[in-house]
Amino acid sequence: QRADLSDLIAAGIRDIPDFPKPGVTFKDITPLLATPEALRAVVSAVAEQYGTDGVDAVVGLEARGFILATPIALELGAGFIPVRKAGKLPARTLRESYDLEYGTATVEMHADAITPGSRVLIVDDVLATGGTGRAAVELVRRAGGTVVGFSVLMELAFLQGRDQLTDVDVHALTVV
Ligand code: PRP
Repeated sequence: QRADLSDLIAAGIRDIPDFPKPGVTFKDITPLLATPEALRAVVSAVAEQYGTDGVDAVVGLEARGFILATPIALELGAGFIPVRKAGKLPARTLRESYDLEYGTATVEMHADAITPGSRVLIVDDVLATGGTGRAAVELVRRAGGTVVGFSVLMELAFLQGRDQLTDVDVHALTVV
């Protein structure tokens, strides 16, 4: 079962060298998303992992996190909440900024998206430096939610993103 899942993920994620810029290797999950048994296995594995945690809402991180978070939310009987890049959400938002190699990035969540006291699972495709995940955790906590976990398809361990998330249950389906 576990080995099958790892194989499906390994087969479904391809490395794209020098994208989006020279020296960066992009992890492209579109083959996995297009493979029915891989998509099903990934969604089921995360839903199983958090199935007994009383998850009320699943937060997905733009853009690839959205794709995975929604079916996971359905499986858990939870709702879906988007965390988006700055300027995309229409109503009042909470904002968090984090450092990039050059400059900063800002993400937002609707200020009223989370019912205080609710239990929230955060989902994304890849954990790299951890900046996006850290920002999402702060947004959920500022809104009064409890973060039950941060789940990713793939963790790039060499970027040490986990070091920014030591106070969170980080769950990666595969680590490279
Ligand atoms: C990628 C990825 C994660 C984030 C991880 O998103 O999908 O959301 O980066 O990086 P970090 O751990 O270093 O923060 P990207 O910014 O490429 O956005 P997109 O999915 O909208 O293309």
